[in-house]
Amino acid sequence: MNIKVLFVTAALFATAIVSTAQDNTSALIPMPNHIVKSNKGEVFTLNTRTSIKTNLPDSAFVISELKRIIARHMQLSPQIDNSARKNIIEIIKDSCIKEEEHYTLSVDKKGIHIKANSEGTIFLALQTLDQILIGDIHNTALHKVEHVFIDDKPRYAHRAIMIDPARHFLPVSDVKFFIDQMARFKFNKLQIHLTDDQGWRIEIKSHPKLTEIGASRVPNGSNQGPDNGYYTQEQMREIIEYADKRNVEIIPEIDIPGHSVAILAAYPHLGCEFRHNETKNLGKTTNMMLCAACDEVYSVYDDIIREIATLFPSEYIHLGGDEAAIKENWAKCDKCHNMMERNGYTSPSQLMIPFFNNILSSVRTNGKKAILWCELDNIWPPANEYLFPYPEDVTLVTWRNALTPKCIELTRKHKHQLLMAPGEHTYLDYPQYPGDLPEFNNWGMPVTTLEQAYRLDPGYGLPKEEQSHINGVMATLWAEAIKDINRLTYMTYPRAMAIAEAGWSQMEQRDWENFRLRLFPCIYELIKSGVSVRVPFEIVENRH
Ligand code: ACM
Ligand code: ZN
Repeated sequence: MNIKVLFVTAALFATAIVSTAQDNTSALIPMPNHIVKSNKGEVFTLNTRTSIKTNLPDSAFVISELKRIIARHMQLSPQIDNSARKNIIEIIKDSCIKEEEHYTLSVDKKGIHIKANSEGTIFLALQTLDQILIGDIHNTALHKVEHVFIDDKPRYAHRAIMIDPARHFLPVSDVKFFIDQMARFKFNKLQIHLTDDQGWRIEIKSHPKLTEIGASRVPNGSNQGPDNGYYTQEQMREIIEYADKRNVEIIPEIDIPGHSVAILAAYPHLGCEFRHNETKNLGKTTNMMLCAACDEVYSVYDDIIREIATLFPSEYIHLGGDEAAIKENWAKCDKCHNMMERNGYTSPSQLMIPFFNNILSSVRTNGKKAILWCELDNIWPPANEYLFPYPEDVTLVTWRNALTPKCIELTRKHKHQLLMAPGEHTYLDYPQYPGDLPEFNNWGMPVTTLEQAYRLDPGYGLPKEEQSHINGVMATLWAEAIKDINRLTYMTYPRAMAIAEAGWSQMEQRDWENFRLRLFPCIYELIKSGVSVRVPFEIVENRH
């Protein structure tokens, strides 16, 4: 099936007679990479005798998800009957399918058949089924599902959203609610920015002051509310398990050596000596840093990384590395200067080399890999090289506006893996439209419109060999101005749907005009689920 032809047809129908344009592809986001539609309009009809058939040994969660979807859209409650041969919804764990996140979903006269090699991927296929039923409203209302064959797998293995409870704390139930929504669109990583100048949000048993002092903006303040709070390790395990069932991995981010006022409030002697007695204000981003020449920094972070590595099953720990205020700290510190001299360095930014060598040895000892925000020798073009030579085994994330082409080039040259979070497309803390929320941000209010988010090609249009080190995408939701879950989802949707499609669908399947049409049933479904979203009125043509 030529999807482009389908797009054009759907678009023409939609503009002509909106009510007849709804079909089984009308709410598919991200667009699957291979669809064969029935050209005869044949359907499978569900009824009270339809049963579920599965070979999954531990199927409870995916079967409950399947039942939820069928009950929501058709008010039917099929039960398991593994002897049934027709009128079935079949969930098959199939080890012949080798690739991660590769699934097939077919609908024929016998029923609905889903095949994949893991529960996580079956969950992905169920999200496609959910969207088929959402899109084809007329058939769904009659309990009919049109015949179709979908054979789908992602363009990128890493499809992330980053949330920032360091700036404004999100209770466990809100994080779960956020995971529910991102999982609909096949995002598979949730990076949680757990430490920053505004707060330390994860319990570290070996250093309890990190949360006793670092998790509350007001000394002795309450442990509730947007400014204060932290996740106990037990709560974080609950989040990790909840996410895992929905094919989402939690990646912890512990930001160093900058963005570290919360730890310095708890342990001031980990900063450069001349700043030990300065007030540590947990309310806003300041320019304090961990001291590169303080041995205790490395022993404390060895403990922190050990606990983080034990708690989070992800192979990755994100260690920040962004916006280090080197001139305001290391350049003025006697101990840092001595360390520079011992190493024969001419610039204090070279202290990032021993700093991350020390920290990364803890990461490696604990069997993990590090991700860092990519910093170059200038924060705006022209930039020529990395800020410092990154160790070979780190994955970098491009993020600064206008520097992504350089980051792609340098990571390829230096053989680093790269994740794409270019500010122009994926910074969802930016307003979605001129004059829209938030009321303020740190960046002079650049705007990332929905269309601009959609225009992201994570490969930046480069020849295949020049983009083969790019592993995925990440939408970021820095939360200086995001005070609660409703504002968080408002900033996330609908733009995250655009990023989801950039991460999953091959460029041949992507089409802005068609995406605009598929968006609205998905937005409506989110609203019906109580999700605060922004209505993208600006993309509706002929709006007067
Ligand atoms: C960043 O936005 N500071 C990575
Ligand atoms: Zn220092």
